[in-house]
Amino acid sequence: MTIGAVALVLIGAGAGAVILLSGAYSTAATKQHFGITYRILEQGLRFSVARYADKIVVPDLDRVANVKVGYACYRQYCQQCHGAPGVARDPLGRGQLPSPSSLSESARDWPEAHLFYVTAKGVRMSGMPAWEFRISTDGLWSTVAYLKAMPFLTKEEHRKLDTSATAESCPAPTTAPSYSRETTQVMFRQYACDNCHIIGGMVGPKTHIGPSLEKWRERRYIAGVLPNTHDNLVRWIVAPQEISAHTMMPDLDVIEPHAQHMARYLMTMDE
Ligand code: HEC
Ligand code: HEC
Repeated sequence: MTIGAVALVLIGAGAGAVILLSGAYSTAATKQHFGITYRILEQGLRFSVARYADKIVVPDLDRVANVKVGYACYRQYCQQCHGAPGVARDPLGRGQLPSPSSLSESARDWPEAHLFYVTAKGVRMSGMPAWEFRISTDGLWSTVAYLKAMPFLTKEEHRKLDTSATAESCPAPTTAPSYSRETTQVMFRQYACDNCHIIGGMVGPKTHIGPSLEKWRERRYIAGVLPNTHDNLVRWIVAPQEISAHTMMPDLDVIEPHAQHMARYLMTMDE
């Protein structure tokens, strides 16, 4: 890139920052985007997903996926925002901008790998959450299988699925990806730890309800009640309410393999 192009980008970014900081840009969710902004966002999402989903190998869905399980996941985690055939979205899904789309069309048009990628990773700045920390890989493929089936289900078939799927709950992950600081930072964010704690090496919100977790290894006690060892730290992260009835830290449904990585990160972060 030439120096001129770099200067242009910097001027553009600077102008954007000035507009934002002046308060002139409305951040209200009732203020519609311009048509052009919509098209850029929509196309941007398609291009980005196509690029990153490229590496995903689609397994044999007849073997790993189950539409009933997929619907159980959809009902628990998606329907409130996206609705379903004959089912309205909740108030939560109506007050958002961008508005979550009804998924029948994307489900028909998008390849399985793209649906999997978006569901696993979410869409930044849109309100679409990442689900890979709540739903197991097979559960995600099952959700994709349900999405693919959804546009072709009659209301009656859908109702049947609704009654038969309730018993099958959506499977949570049982394993973690192999350890690295970067993946563990994603975990801290995905459980909102960085919303309440300052954590070494992480960029995050500046409001902190809980104590700073910097220089963690020097601590002798966890929350004043447990000696600070790796195993105790895992116990605390998984079930703080069980250990201390008075603590303000909520149970966050952290699965043990994720807590193992978090404890390792905190214990070794200053090395
Ligand atoms: C809190 C609200 C919310 C929840 C819950 C939610 N989504 Fe979304 N989703 C969005 C928003 C907002 C977008 C971006 C706007 C759009 O394109 O629909 C989006 C986009 C998508 C897209 C891209 C489709 C497209 O046409 O752009 C897919 C696929 C998707 N969501 C699937 C899911 C699945 C599967 C679940 C449940 C596991 C889920 N979503 C849960 C809000 C949500
Ligand atoms: C809603 C806010 C909140 C969230 C989210 C939260 N914590 Fe906490 N955490 C607290 C508070 C408050 C305390 C102080 C507890 C006490 O002393 O009773 C605490 C205490 C701790 C401690 C002990 C600190 C010390 O000084 O002894 C650790 C370690 C910890 N949290 C880790 C985590 C991790 C890891 C996560 C994410 C899985 C997390 N927390 C999510 C509020 C939160």
